[in-house]
Amino acid sequence: MQWIFGYGSLIWRPDFDFVARRPARVHGWQRRFWQGSHDHRGVPERPGRVVTLVAADGGHCDGMAYQVTAADSARIFDALDHREKNGYQRRDLELHFLDADGGTAPGIVYLAPEGNHAYLGPAEVADIARQIAHSTGPSGRNIDYLIDLAAALRAMNADDEHVFELEHAIREHL
Ligand code: SIN
Repeated sequence: MQWIFGYGSLIWRPDFDFVARRPARVHGWQRRFWQGSHDHRGVPERPGRVVTLVAADGGHCDGMAYQVTAADSARIFDALDHREKNGYQRRDLELHFLDADGGTAPGIVYLAPEGNHAYLGPAEVADIARQIAHSTGPSGRNIDYLIDLAAALRAMNADDEHVFELEHAIREHL
């Protein structure tokens, strides 16, 4: 058995078979719209912005953990490696489960480290919102990625100032 942690589109669209699904937190990381998307929510000449995890002392990021069987895992990781190919790497992180059963487990996370070929880094909230509002790609509108992420976080009672601030800022562009 293996846990996979999703903090972006993997929260609301895992697209793979799993045997258990539990809300979880990773400590020391924050979710940020700092990764360029040339293949899903943008195109090479007009990249969108999607989330990655950025190291942050004292910070945390809430997401969804999925348990997959050993028999399925090779196929699932092949598909995820393809889906997350634009700058993401697999990392092992400790997951802290947020449901009543609690506990921890090792998990695999796809994160896009600073300096990868599609990395865009920080920008003003208004500028990120403008870029998201004007980007679209093969997986759909970048604005829907933001709205779906905010809705998924709200549904799990997860707070994320960065995401909710952007969701607020994007209203100007609707
Ligand atoms: C994730 O969801 O965990 C990775 C980033 C994304 O695909 O949005």
